Amino acid sequence: MSLQRFNSIRFFYYIFKLFRHTELNQIMEEKLPEPLSAKNKSSFAYLTIRDRLPVILSKVADTVYRKKTAVKDIHGEDATEELKFIAGCISKLRNELQTDKAVIPLRDNAPDTEIWNSSIAELAKKEGEEPKWFKSPWLYVECYMYRRIQEAMGQCNILHNLDPFEEQKKKAFTDSEEASEVLLHYLRGITEKAATASEEDKMEYFREFLQIALWGNRCDLSISASQENSQTESILDQLHHLEPNILINETSHVQQCLKSSMNSQIIDIVLDNAGFELVTDLCLAEILIVCGWASSIRMHGKAIPWFVSDVTRSDFDWSLDSLSNSSKPSMAYFGDLWKQRLTNKSWNFSAENFWTTPYDFAEMKTHAPDLYESFKDTKIIFFKGDLNYRKLVGDLNWEPTTSFEVALRGFHPAPLCALRTCKADLIAGLEKGQKDEVEKKDKKWMLDGNWSVISFCGKSNQ
Ligand code: F6P
Ligand code: MG
Repeated sequence: MSLQRFNSIRFFYYIFKLFRHTELNQIMEEKLPEPLSAKNKSSFAYLTIRDRLPVILSKVADTVYRKKTAVKDIHGEDATEELKFIAGCISKLRNELQTDKAVIPLRDNAPDTEIWNSSIAELAKKEGEEPKWFKSPWLYVECYMYRRIQEAMGQCNILHNLDPFEEQKKKAFTDSEEASEVLLHYLRGITEKAATASEEDKMEYFREFLQIALWGNRCDLSISASQENSQTESILDQLHHLEPNILINETSHVQQCLKSSMNSQIIDIVLDNAGFELVTDLCLAEILIVCGWASSIRMHGKAIPWFVSDVTRSDFDWSLDSLSNSSKPSMAYFGDLWKQRLTNKSWNFSAENFWTTPYDFAEMKTHAPDLYESFKDTKIIFFKGDLNYRKLVGDLNWEPTTSFEVALRGFHPAPLCALRTCKADLIAGLEKGQKDEVEKKDKKWMLDGNWSVISFCGKSNQ
């Protein structure tokens, strides 16, 4: 390349950077957009708090009642008293929510109790009054609800490990078995070819499995208010007709990132839901290993039951056991292989507390500096799902054409990619006019999970 050409590329790059920087500064100076909140009655936040969350809480109370006989048989009479206590806590919580009471401090003694209680105080200071369900930021109160469910269990001696969503998650996994077997059979064929495949073929496998993991995110049990939401058809047959519904598709940047940073052999996946989505994420992890872009995959799950279907350590272990004990050949094959990957540490699962704190990701550097630092060596972080997306962009009411990088508000621990089906009324990174176009095709495009984004940001502060 001639020096002149090199200098002109550099010049345009600086102009581009300056523009981006200015966009962020301008937004910061003019103040960030408002957080989404149920105080806006035409918002999805309002419908969630008014309709969906009470249904989720009723289902928790129901599950607890139904466990009575089983719990008594296993743990004795004292445990049934604890069940009554839990049910009482849940119905009190539902009442507080429905009557828009103030958010109250937690009374348990968990590692994050203090974090939550000081966040309530901070928010009260900021808002000039005690946080309330229908007035405070949606993200905050929705996360608080799941933490309060955990508080009920956390105060029990016998039932402190009870997961009120466990049965639903297991059923979602079992109901998706046919679809999982078809997918894993297909993956097996690919992995057998991978060692001798060309770079171009490998990139094609990646593109396909990235989309599989993307659409796997449609299977969450929170958007369906705990109603069944499993994958019953083969996802492979759906990929082609779903592709035009990827509103932002930055796969080529992600591929570039995989190719260019060959010195790092670690990739992180911040997981979302158990069940079929987890199977699709594990497939993506497998592709990243067999194609040689990583020798180590670090997967991050939730420390406590969260947003109904999010994967905890025990869901993760149960899923791998279920795969390896399956009578279906490809499920059993990958179940065994993936357990070996965990044993030989090429795969790791961890469940850091940060993911279930009240903080969004721009606050990670301050509130979880070790976690932020741990991303220093990673090639790329994949963030799965809608809630992770909301936390990436702060759950703010962004103008949809705001760039993804700006919406991240300085969260750049490493290059990152968000894989999200849209299930909340916020988005960043759309082209001008794209919102109107998609609205014409589907009025519920922001919420029905039929539209999605593969958004990439290559910036890294490390
Ligand atoms: O209930 C709110 C919500 O964040 C929705 O926006 C979303 O559908 C769901 O919870 C969680 O989705 P995901 O499992 O994709 O993070
Ligand atoms: Mg989820």
